[in-house]
Amino acid sequence: MPAPSGQSESIVILDFGSQYAQLIARRVRENGVYSVLARPDVTPAELTELNPRGLIFTGGPASVYEPAAPRCRAELLELGVPILGICYGMQIACQMLGADVKPAASREYGRTSLTVHQADKLLANIPAETTAWMSHGDQVNALGDDFIPLATTPSCPIAAVRHKTRPFYGVQFHPEVTHTPHGGEIFVNFLYDVCGCAGLWKMGSFVESVVESVRETVGPDERVICGLSGGVDSSVVAAMLHKAIGDRLACIFVDNGLLRMNEVALVQSTFADHFRIDLTTVPAADDFLDGLAGVTDPQEKRRIIGHTFIEAFKTAAEKVPNARYLAQGTLYPDVIESGESLAGQAANIKLHHNVGGLPAELGFELIEPLRNLFKDEVRQVGELLGLPERIVWRHPFPGPGLAVRCVGEVTRQRLDLLRKCDNILIEEITAAGLYRKTAQTFVVLLPVRSVGVMGDGRTYDNVVAVRSVDTSDFMTADWSRIPYEVLATISSRIINEVKGVNRVVYDISSKPPATIEWE
Ligand code: XMP
Repeated sequence: MPAPSGQSESIVILDFGSQYAQLIARRVRENGVYSVLARPDVTPAELTELNPRGLIFTGGPASVYEPAAPRCRAELLELGVPILGICYGMQIACQMLGADVKPAASREYGRTSLTVHQADKLLANIPAETTAWMSHGDQVNALGDDFIPLATTPSCPIAAVRHKTRPFYGVQFHPEVTHTPHGGEIFVNFLYDVCGCAGLWKMGSFVESVVESVRETVGPDERVICGLSGGVDSSVVAAMLHKAIGDRLACIFVDNGLLRMNEVALVQSTFADHFRIDLTTVPAADDFLDGLAGVTDPQEKRRIIGHTFIEAFKTAAEKVPNARYLAQGTLYPDVIESGESLAGQAANIKLHHNVGGLPAELGFELIEPLRNLFKDEVRQVGELLGLPERIVWRHPFPGPGLAVRCVGEVTRQRLDLLRKCDNILIEEITAAGLYRKTAQTFVVLLPVRSVGVMGDGRTYDNVVAVRSVDTSDFMTADWSRIPYEVLATISSRIINEVKGVNRVVYDISSKPPATIEWE
């Protein structure tokens, strides 16, 4: 598909191994400029194809004087394209331009005060005394005559710098994190005043251009199949394709019997009734649950569900005449992590346990309209396309669904009990205004019975665990500090309203070492 509009000006971010590389890319985009990640050794020819208005060098864990330290090609510093080096990115560029970098007297980590001595373009409109987030062991020690120092911190005499003759700026601190309160202005200054960007990256025009390119790609008699899961990504893909090609889009939603309460109804009412999309719901719960009977091993559950899903999807897809394309909700982080993009292997490789992926043997050509977007941008697109809030802001839900939240055997009766508990949890979290503040919140049914008393009688019933986590990338997560009163309401409602449960526990494990799901 042709490149969507807004990409005609871009910032290329050379990733030297920073945990913040994707965050930097998002900061740039939030300010209206398209950005992509690239390996540090990206060639000038590869860069030319992207036509960057500026480059950002990220931080990274290495020391610039180690022999294996990642470097960029020297030619990049000669291109005349503005560069902003952050932390390691500043050190490596300064070193390549003749400055001296040494270990700092002490490693500096955390918030520190920053004094701006000379604002120049980069630090324009930043208070002379502010704070910044530092995390470094090395620092630029001596600049030589080619640079002008711009700012200092108590332990870092060269905390920001510019080159006298080249369009190079460096900051030793991290403007991308929220702990640097004026970091946003630094990005705006760099993008607009240093690089001269026009700010062409807007979700509205992105949608228009993708819609246009889908129309150009899909022939008048051809159809596109889209697998709906109820999650935000596939929902946005479906809404976007429907805008582009109307009833030439055929959506398939496999009801695997492992969904949350009312999920099937929500998907049907949103897509079939509201958008009037051609939606086939495949009632495959019996196939899945029969296959899972007696299975307790989590990976075996995933294998059975994955296999059954492909069979159910394939059978439904074969019934769609003239289907040539399959639309998928691949996002930019998936593209980066798969190593397919210019970011190469420098990016974190995420352990994928996705179920619901479809094999290439199905024989369709792929349409991936979201492959350049971050998750927050997908949500913006969803809102623009008029998807309901309940879908746009939905927490992620694993492909194997409630099967991996029924620890032990998956039966209809256990699923039913889990669904009721889960529904109460979501109702209470939403009522307390916490749904959008937490990243993922759910109930896990344990294969454990506990003794209780109810009225005059002794009970011996199920235990459920409530899990709620805060995270932005799902690679690490902390347990949500849900107020005690909210937990109390959740617990008493579950025990009073769900027959068969007499104990609720709250999971206070962070990831790592625990995972978000229990299986
Ligand atoms: P963990 O449990 O590994 O989960 O910390 C990280 C994120 O991945 C989701 N998850 C899955 N998603 N298929 C999926 O599509 C799976 O088998 C699967 N297992 C975990 C989990 O819900 C969380 O968002």
